[in-house]
Amino acid sequence: MEAYIVEWLNLLGRWVHMITGIAWIGASFYFVWLDNHLHAPKDPADAEKGIGGEVWSLHGGGFYHAQKYKVAPAKLPEVLHWFKWEAYTTWMTGMFMLALIYWYSAEIYLIDPGVADISKSFAVLMGILTLVTGWLVYDYLCKSPLGQDDKKLGAAIFVFVTIMAFILTHLFSGRGAFIHFGAMLGTIMAANVYFIIMPGQQKMVEAAAIGELPDPKAAMNAKQRSVHNTYFTLPVLFTMISNHYAMTYSSSWNWLVLILISIAGALIRIYFVKRHFGEPSKTPLYIAGAIFLAIIIAMAPSPAPKPTADATAPVTNTAAAPVNTAAQGTYSPTFLAVQGIMQARCTSCHAAQPTQAGFSAPPKGVVFDTPRDIVIQATQIHQQTVATKAMPIGNLTKMTDEERAVIAQWYQSGAQEK
Ligand code: HEC
Repeated sequence: MEAYIVEWLNLLGRWVHMITGIAWIGASFYFVWLDNHLHAPKDPADAEKGIGGEVWSLHGGGFYHAQKYKVAPAKLPEVLHWFKWEAYTTWMTGMFMLALIYWYSAEIYLIDPGVADISKSFAVLMGILTLVTGWLVYDYLCKSPLGQDDKKLGAAIFVFVTIMAFILTHLFSGRGAFIHFGAMLGTIMAANVYFIIMPGQQKMVEAAAIGELPDPKAAMNAKQRSVHNTYFTLPVLFTMISNHYAMTYSSSWNWLVLILISIAGALIRIYFVKRHFGEPSKTPLYIAGAIFLAIIIAMAPSPAPKPTADATAPVTNTAAAPVNTAAQGTYSPTFLAVQGIMQARCTSCHAAQPTQAGFSAPPKGVVFDTPRDIVIQATQIHQQTVATKAMPIGNLTKMTDEERAVIAQWYQSGAQEK
């Protein structure tokens, strides 16, 4: 029942997160577009009112005429839209998802004893610390003297996030590291809105209300953070979908893959922002393409090992051999039966090196190579093979109802290995 409820919370949380994320990123893409398409107002009366730029557009069967003031209108309008809840709700639902999947089920999704054998509470603590440290260090860098020089600041932020990528991938499972990296950047983006951009705008509104010129420093800070958010967007979106692609996060060079794809994302964004000003150089796009090509070639899987001619021969590939024959005596017959079923029906896909055609990495990163893999994922195994029968996918490996019954019985009697 618990897994079922969690599954629903997962669906609803993800849905809202996507909707609000689209609203946030969509609005920010739109305003970057808008800012870069303004031209001087045609009507001299508009220029006199203090309008610096305008743009006409057509959408959904209506003509729109957007105007941007050089500083502020002489009189503030009654209703002023702020665009902030999109950011906050995206962050809050993101935290909800992170906690529900990666912290609540840390032993499945966040901890990989092959990377670091850490306890659940330590893993969660490190997860939280990642988000807090990410913001504090980033904000410190922006406010330090480096903050005066956009290029130096950019380089410092880059070095910092690379170090974080390295640490995270040596602390958490691949997918856990990637999602925490994305959550760290997402937290920085939302905190930029909350701590810098909104207070800056508040000051502008207050100044405009009493007819004074707003402090240009507040506007400049807000602009700097906004530009950073623009560059973070594509890398963050990559990390959000990365857990569907085990090939990106499961290699031992995953920190480098993460950083290179982030660079490629930022370069693509640079190109699209510049494109608004006419035909920019395509160099950023070419570099991004070259980065992807290099990653794709470097990570191509080595050909699968040939199946042994005699299927009854003992397993010789010890790395993949799931049963340590010497230790067999310590497992219960029920567990051994379950493990046998898993080997027959699941591990052709769900192994570090799948043998099933069409799979170069285990789907969703789920592997059942060792007894521990099976025991800690008992709920998921039961959910997938008994409750929903979603697995084996398309019943490609022809799992029988008797085998599902064995798993159900093992699960109900406590899902132990002894
Ligand atoms: C033919 C390949 C294949 C076989 C065999 C297979 N799976 Fe899967 N499995 C997949 C794919 C593909 C996904 C990812 C599905 C998705 O993204 O929704 C998956 C996902 C899963 C997940 C994660 C589901 C989730 O939503 O997080 C579990 C757990 C799982 N499989 C268990 C099993 C078990 C247990 C078996 C054996 C009884 C099995 N699978 C056999 C291909 C396979």
